[in-house]
Amino acid sequence: MPTFADFDRRNYRSVDVVTGYDGWAPTYDDIVMPEMDLALLDRLEQVDWMSVHSAADLGCGTGRTGAWLRGRGITRIDGVDLSPGMLSRAATRGAHSTLTLRDVRDTGLRAETYDLVIASLIDEHLPDLAPLYSEAYRLAVRGGFLVMVSYHPQFMMVSGMPTHYTSWTGEPVAISTHLHLFTDRLTAAAAAGWQLMETSEALVDDTWIESKPKWGSLIGHPFSVALVWRKPS
Ligand SMILES: C[S@@+](CC[C@H](N)C(=O)[O-])C[C@H]1O[C@@H](n2cnc3c(N)ncnc32)[C@H](O)[C@@H]1O
Repeated sequence: MPTFADFDRRNYRSVDVVTGYDGWAPTYDDIVMPEMDLALLDRLEQVDWMSVHSAADLGCGTGRTGAWLRGRGITRIDGVDLSPGMLSRAATRGAHSTLTLRDVRDTGLRAETYDLVIASLIDEHLPDLAPLYSEAYRLAVRGGFLVMVSYHPQFMMVSGMPTHYTSWTGEPVAISTHLHLFTDRLTAAAAAGWQLMETSEALVDDTWIESKPKWGSLIGHPFSVALVWRKPS
């Protein structure tokens, strides 16, 4: 099977998740565009956000996803992340009910508790998707939703670009990035018990180029994808 290394055109020095996101935390919110993830959430039709009472936000980062959920009227949002730097920004933002420093594959959160589990722009950091899909399944109530927003494998392969940031010294640094084809996602989710409800892709268009002028040759390619899953009732 191909790995991201087969497509890497940047060859930046690569660091682990905690080192990378602790380094990126101060500038993360200035770099990530809403079109990459929040605009995809805006477009989803299967999740009735107003009827969600409790959500687990896996890989909650600085709290952007949590703030979006709170804006949809969700009052109980528990965030989990491995990076103390990102979590401290999330604490300042104040969108979450609780914040836990822990791995999303073993959150320690209570089983069968959440109407919604969400993991946005995180799964490219996991070498294997199965543990994330099964932990999410453990957390969700029957009939609950899982929303996964992912860095699109097509974009990763065409651009050869890992998830990366510019360090305070000006060096571009990659954060350990893994390629997951759609079959990997569908297989891992189905094995955990999830049923696919909806998909949506965010395509690079002219408005993106204002923020990312070097991406001109990538217009029309999907940057990210949202998959909506449901746990059977
Ligand atoms: C690109 S950020 C996304 C943050 C937020 N969901 C958003 O959309 O802005 C990815 C986050 O996932 C976290 N992360 C990556 N792998 C993780 C793991 N195995 N367990 C917990 N958090 C993880 C990182 O620390 C980082 O904060």
